[in-house]
Amino acid sequence: MKAYDLIVIGAGPGGYEAAFEAADLGMKTALVEKEALGGTCLNHGCIPTKSLLHAAELYRQLKEAGLFGIRAEQITADGEQMQAQKNDVVAQLRKGIETTAAKKKIDVYRGTGTLLENRCVSVKTADGEESLQGTHILLATGSRPALPPIPGMDLEGVVTSDELLERSEKPERLAIIGGGVIGVEFASLYAALGSSVTVIEAMPQLLPNLDREIAQSLKMLMKKRGVRVMTGARVQEIRKNGDGSLGLNLDGEDPVEADLVLVSVGRRPNTENLFGDNGQPAMERGRILVNTYGETNLPGVYAVGDVTGGIMLAHAATAAGRNAVRHMAGMPPCADVRYIPSCIYTEPEIACVGMSLDEAKAAGIQADSHKVLMTANGKTVLSGAERGYIRVVYEKESGKLLGAQMMCERASDMISEFTQALVSGLTLKDMQRAVRPHPTFCEAITEAVC
Ligand code: NAI
Repeated sequence: MKAYDLIVIGAGPGGYEAAFEAADLGMKTALVEKEALGGTCLNHGCIPTKSLLHAAELYRQLKEAGLFGIRAEQITADGEQMQAQKNDVVAQLRKGIETTAAKKKIDVYRGTGTLLENRCVSVKTADGEESLQGTHILLATGSRPALPPIPGMDLEGVVTSDELLERSEKPERLAIIGGGVIGVEFASLYAALGSSVTVIEAMPQLLPNLDREIAQSLKMLMKKRGVRVMTGARVQEIRKNGDGSLGLNLDGEDPVEADLVLVSVGRRPNTENLFGDNGQPAMERGRILVNTYGETNLPGVYAVGDVTGGIMLAHAATAAGRNAVRHMAGMPPCADVRYIPSCIYTEPEIACVGMSLDEAKAAGIQADSHKVLMTANGKTVLSGAERGYIRVVYEKESGKLLGAQMMCERASDMISEFTQALVSGLTLKDMQRAVRPHPTFCEAITEAVC
């Protein structure tokens, strides 16, 4: 049995970054992964989606470039090349992780890891089985798409984001069940490529976990781009039509006809085959329960990322993984996980951090907010970007920043300035002191905090 200071099961952004941190701290580390290194984020999630979204955005911009005096004709979207480029990007980043793991002398085991009692891990590989013993264990096995119990879910043409990401041909008519983060990003992607898209969301608004104003603005924008948005709508069943297309029967609405159906109604933690006898930590509704350090109820066994439920975001998993390793090493956390920014790569982008005004008021805080429209922002106007806005939420008396919600160009980059301000406990006055360059999108932050 090989002994390690840390055995990480799952090599997504929670697991591999934790393994890197552990190796940097001098811990003898093993990383167990049954598929490709990089996890959902790199192989079936953030990176491939953003690569395709980037291509779709470029396609739309080129078609509208006449406004800037750029004349281009016969612009076409080549689905095969978009796939090839996406696959190259993924391969390049995966290579980077493999090289870094090797440089840091991390032992990578390619197989399925199962946690047994007393921090023993068995790894089933193509060649047999390995037995490992860890002083610490980190479970970072991620999540997979959840499938609702709707009749017809198993029909051909009903897919999750995993399968949709691998398709090079665009559907004429795409129906999306679930108007959450995945649903709106794919709606944005396929609308830009020219598909006729319908989003069916069960709750009264798109992105139910986000601020109402953001959801309303997004709904308007989607409609402007030709996307049909149905909120408060539930799919009863999916059926195959005689011509091979799919029909979605809804509760109290006319059916929706489609050539392809994307199901994006959330994700479920991956814990199948993860535990042997006496190896299972306390769980609740499929997720592993952890404390603020990522510790489970089993001594020395930690868990981070999607497998623990909560905020299913790559950067949240990375931060939690690095903090967990530092806790194992008796060190203070390196990341302040109270403020996890959330970014949605629609066009324009959406980004939020901290509290919305409604959340602050619900928490009993005397709060107010200030909104600045991007209509007068020079960079927005000169680049022909969608207008959008930035809203800041602050404590009335002290002026302390409580949160920010943005829907504008480069929101996913600019949100970090607000995250830094929240982590540092800054007031709007503090934020006013920074001189921001002109002309930039971020100079609108100066206006927003004045
Ligand atoms: P989600 O939880 O964001 O949204 C699922 C949506 O489906 C909800 O709005 C829910 O009300 C709706 N829904 C559930 N059952 C339904 C039904 N039967 N009919 C119609 N609507 C129904 O989940 P999503 O979009 O699948 O994303 C999964 C996870 O991946 C999320 O936790 C998200 O944070 C993460 N993710 C993050 C991204 C980003 O940060 N840019 C991008 C993609 C995913």
